[in-house]
Amino acid sequence: MEKRKSIMNFANSEFLKLRSCQMKSMVFRCFILVILILVLRTTICSFHGSTWLTWRTSNWIVMSVASNLQYSIRRDKFLEVPQIVWGLNNQKIALARACLTARFLNRTLLMPSLSASLFYKEVDLLKPMPFDKIFNFEKFNALCDRFVRLGRYSDPLNHTKLFELQKGSGRKWTKERDLDQLNQSREELVDTAEVIRIVGKNPFLWHDHWPVKEYANIFECLVVVDEIENEVTKVISKIREVGRMVGHKIDASEKKEIAHDLRDTHVPYIAVHMWIEKDWMIHCKKVEQKLRINEICSTKEQIIERVSHITGIQSRVAVYLAVADILLEDNTVLNGWKDGLVPFDKKRLGVLGVYKKYPYLIQSAIDYEVCSRAEIFVGNSFSTFSSLIVLSRTQKLIRMRLTNSCSTEVVYPSYAYNILGQSGGAKRWMTDMSASSLVGISYGTNNISCYSNWDTSL
Ligand SMILES: *[C@@H]1O[C@H](CO)[C@@H](O)[C@H](O)[C@H]1NC(C)=O
Ligand SMILES: *[C@@H]1O[C@H](CO)[C@@H](O)[C@H](O)[C@H]1NC(C)=O
Ligand SMILES: *[C@@H]1O[C@H](CO)[C@@H](O)[C@H](O)[C@H]1NC(C)=O
Ligand SMILES: *[C@@H]1O[C@H](CO)[C@@H](O)[C@H](O)[C@H]1NC(C)=O
Repeated sequence: MEKRKSIMNFANSEFLKLRSCQMKSMVFRCFILVILILVLRTTICSFHGSTWLTWRTSNWIVMSVASNLQYSIRRDKFLEVPQIVWGLNNQKIALARACLTARFLNRTLLMPSLSASLFYKEVDLLKPMPFDKIFNFEKFNALCDRFVRLGRYSDPLNHTKLFELQKGSGRKWTKERDLDQLNQSREELVDTAEVIRIVGKNPFLWHDHWPVKEYANIFECLVVVDEIENEVTKVISKIREVGRMVGHKIDASEKKEIAHDLRDTHVPYIAVHMWIEKDWMIHCKKVEQKLRINEICSTKEQIIERVSHITGIQSRVAVYLAVADILLEDNTVLNGWKDGLVPFDKKRLGVLGVYKKYPYLIQSAIDYEVCSRAEIFVGNSFSTFSSLIVLSRTQKLIRMRLTNSCSTEVVYPSYAYNILGQSGGAKRWMTDMSASSLVGISYGTNNISCYSNWDTSL
């Protein structure tokens, strides 16, 4: 019931977005109407002195403008947050959290700096990267209109009218205290400041006060810039091209003709996020001990085994292996795959050059898109990278009004190889969109499943 409700709310918010567009055009039409009527009035009034018609019309306009503003975010109050650090996924979550904090304070978020590289400890060495180097600023504001808003540092009129809000940390800084502090910042004394600057640690570490579907709303507004989109398209067409070759054992004489015939047909691919870097394996063993479960770490062999037992993979298909940079020289990830699953990493695919041009953050953003758009995705449910990909794929299914995501005919299925599913395969995985916090996504979970009776109607 809870889930149903929240999915409906989710759908509702989409509906509201649509409505607000209609409202805009309505306001515009009203504006034209009022001009017309003003012109008419001057003509009519000189004859009758009647103001009734004008009163009705202008009142109607005031009302529709008011309802239009109901969902908007103030454009003259701002929130500033510290530079956002760590992996792409933690940066995305931190960004969304900063946006939701700004929304809570009804303020425009000053476009935060992301970090191009991945230093865990030496925060001072982190190279800042502007948000709009990766994500399209205008599209973000257009898609998230009335929900959250990003502004530029040149927007505030007077940077000296600033309030510094020191976030607490440590065990004593509870979720309740944190929310309390934010709530107090909505009161008049603080609220008069044009800019509130939050000082403290990485926003990823702030307490989480918002449900998954609000984060999901924000992630949907993050559209990569054209330059990155072009690289994503390049990589995906390369994968589909090799997929076409492995799917059809074509002899040389036929090759040209068939390749031409098949150019526009859709060749599906599988993407596997292999999380087997050495430092991760050490870390994950510790987490397994702490949580007393053994469903987190998967070896290469286990991953291959569970991917090959996913039911529904029939023909020969290309498998894109999303692995970290340091593993690229290690060709062994390409060995051991069952006949029918033909693995490719960046090197074998011939796209290493595409990635090498960019810093870590952009490489990771390209991989994220390539995995998100795969026909089948398999990842680790304790990886934030995998979890965010599954979230975006779940949203895609909601858009398709799918009611039974457990059905074998589902398009865009996702799986977790670290959890055993049916017939020895990886387990079917979707995001629980009704979750009241992002904890399962940020820190991982072994409680995953598909959902068999979703109500995706409005
Ligand atoms: C923000 O403030 C404006 C103006 O006071 C108000 O109309 C709007 O509803 C507020 N938005 C939110 C999300 O609270
Ligand atoms: C900015 O605010 C400060 C403090 O309120 C004030 O002294 C200063 O004149 C303001 N500057 C501008 C350009 O408004
Ligand atoms: C915020 O403070 C107001 C009173 O100023 C209170 O009514 C409200 O319940 C508080 N909200 C939260 C989320 O703490
Ligand atoms: C697992 O997740 C479902 C919702 O997806 C929830 O209802 C259930 O309580 C969770 N179980 C555990 C043990 O956390």
